[in-house]
Amino acid sequence: MRISLRFIVPLALALTAIAYAVVPLVDRLTLNWFVRDMEIRAKLITNATQEPLGALVREPRAKQKVMRFFERIIEDERIYALGFCDQAGKLAYATRTFPDKVRCPPPDAPERTYLVQRPEGPLHVSAHPVALEGETLGELVIVHDMSFVQRRSEDTKKYVFYLFTMIAAVVALITVVIAEISWRGWVAGIKALISGEGLLRSPEQVRAPELRPIAKDLRALVRDLEAERRSRDESQIGWGPEALRGILREDLKGDEVLIVSNREPYIHVRHGNVIEIQRPASGLVTALEPVMRACSGTWIAHGSGSADRDTVDRNDHIMVPPERPAYRIRRVWLTQEEEQGYYYGFANEGLWPLCHIAHTRPIFRIQDWEHYRTVNQRFSDAVADEARTDNPIVLVQDYHFALLPRLVRERLPGATIITFWHIPWPNPEAFGILPWREAVLEGLLGSSILGFHTQFHCHNFFDTVDRFLEARVDRETSTISHGGEATEVRRYPISIEWPPAALADQPPVAECRQQVRRRLGVSPETHLGLGVDRLDYTKGILERFLAVERLLELEPRWIGKFSFVQIAAPSRSSIDEYQGLDVKVRALAQRINQRFGSDSYHPIILKIEHHDARDVYIHYRAADLCYVSSLHDGMNLVAKEFAAARDDERGVLLLSQFTGASRELSEALIVNPYDIEQCAAALHLALTMPAEEQRARMRSMRNLVQEFNVYRWAGRMLNDAARMRHRHRVLSRARAARLEAVKR
Ligand code: G6P
Repeated sequence: MRISLRFIVPLALALTAIAYAVVPLVDRLTLNWFVRDMEIRAKLITNATQEPLGALVREPRAKQKVMRFFERIIEDERIYALGFCDQAGKLAYATRTFPDKVRCPPPDAPERTYLVQRPEGPLHVSAHPVALEGETLGELVIVHDMSFVQRRSEDTKKYVFYLFTMIAAVVALITVVIAEISWRGWVAGIKALISGEGLLRSPEQVRAPELRPIAKDLRALVRDLEAERRSRDESQIGWGPEALRGILREDLKGDEVLIVSNREPYIHVRHGNVIEIQRPASGLVTALEPVMRACSGTWIAHGSGSADRDTVDRNDHIMVPPERPAYRIRRVWLTQEEEQGYYYGFANEGLWPLCHIAHTRPIFRIQDWEHYRTVNQRFSDAVADEARTDNPIVLVQDYHFALLPRLVRERLPGATIITFWHIPWPNPEAFGILPWREAVLEGLLGSSILGFHTQFHCHNFFDTVDRFLEARVDRETSTISHGGEATEVRRYPISIEWPPAALADQPPVAECRQQVRRRLGVSPETHLGLGVDRLDYTKGILERFLAVERLLELEPRWIGKFSFVQIAAPSRSSIDEYQGLDVKVRALAQRINQRFGSDSYHPIILKIEHHDARDVYIHYRAADLCYVSSLHDGMNLVAKEFAAARDDERGVLLLSQFTGASRELSEALIVNPYDIEQCAAALHLALTMPAEEQRARMRSMRNLVQEFNVYRWAGRMLNDAARMRHRHRVLSRARAARLEAVKR
């Protein structure tokens, strides 16, 4: 209907123009041509008849002879009549056909040629002087029948009309086709741009090429607006549990949130008849627990405690925190072999050393990989089981679940999957030794959003995908497109809750100092350095001890006056490398203590045991300095916890340059943990730092941790998820409307 209108209207316009302008014009032109033709013919006839006619006119009984002469000439069908006007302007001789209306033109008449109209068609009359031997004898009047001109003109008009009509039809048709094609492209393009589809596509994918620059500008504009809105909103929000709940309520409209991690936040352990609850030493758990309390979702994790099975309901659920239930844990059970292969084997002997450049060689075993795949599958089943809707927000945590995002995507295509990689991402050369590197990358690219702590790790990931997969890596928009799906890769530096729960009801700093020194059996004046870690080779505990030893060598005045307390939570103890580290750490501490210590003085106080968060915070508050010497670390939350614990604005933080935290806490004394001399000098600097300088540095770090707390970390991810979901909803509505329109 639309097409026929688009065809008929221009065609009708063209026909009107042909009828009223083209045809009369062509008619006038042809008439002029014929008249000119007549005149030439008339001149030819005059020239040809000049002499015989002049002679005949002079002869006696001229009339008969002239008439015969004329009759012969008018046998030509075009010559209608002939007449001869004498010098007096009187018609002397004329053929029978000579019309009455035609007279001899007066000698002074300017026009010697004219048309005489009659019903059968016009006559062309022209008068030409006839002279003989220099004497003018009269005028020959030639009357041409122009009816043939009229006939021809009719024919010409007809042909012209048909010809132009055909041309107009063809032109109209071509115009309509071209217009239709480009109109559709435009309309689709504009619709896509308006509906936001153009924003998801890269400019090259926008159908109408002329819209590409607009699409590009629009994308840039939307990105800027989003970024501006994000940063403005972010900085204006007081980030706490309420702000997170607000995002869930308003932006995510109460959508369901599921977290998947290997480590559970509460572990039930049996000691004889007593069941004890343990909080694991895990930065990940420390960060996510407050978020989960705010979100009231479901946390899916490995049930690893000896009394875990005894404490769940028949759906393997348990509500936590025990003192004030706010969310539930869904425990997933693994056999010993599975735990050995998936957790100890592939995750911790393979991926962990692969991603941390700490010079420990990764071990890859095919059986471990098989278990890793099976367990990832098991967790994806659990996600599908737990999901009450088909589009939950699934927060996948860490290197234990590189394959999970894709598996969840297959089960729940509508889910928004946010994967956070809590450890560093290495460069492509380092990552390239993994035998199953493509599978790991493809698994991760099942995520809607993939987060790292630092931009550096994001870049490493882009480079790795670029090197090993057929994927489109767009660094400008931080997006990777693979297999028709897009993953946004972003930096979300993790943090801790503010104020930390473990700080509540803490005694004043002076009391903490006394309490800790008393417990450690050192004098109240002793300067205390502190290290808090899992007993892990990435933490640089040996290098830390060597720096303490070097300090005592270089500055003997600290012998007897400075002790370094190392809290080391036992970790992954069944792995050889960790057992070896345990031995080395103990041995080094012993050697240094023998070298510089005495019965009553221990330069290194080593506590290889689990400490609860409250106890760790008492130590933070009691210490003069805290030393974080990781050889490579995604973030390291100990650095942030130390700052958060020091509400007295005292204490010095020494921080390895190889931690994510060093990108944010630039007021710490930033050191290279491999450079023992430098670290010893930094320890001395810390121990002698004036109170004012300590205060200035600590205040600035505390402000940063307060402002960029874990609620903001989670809030930014959830905000991005909300933005993405909103965009998808708009797009599917636009698509549905288009489908509807096509059906109609
Ligand atoms: C790191 C990892 C976490 C892990 C934690 C404790 O922070 O990124 O995923 O939970 O170490 O390790 P564990 O093996 O005891 O869970």
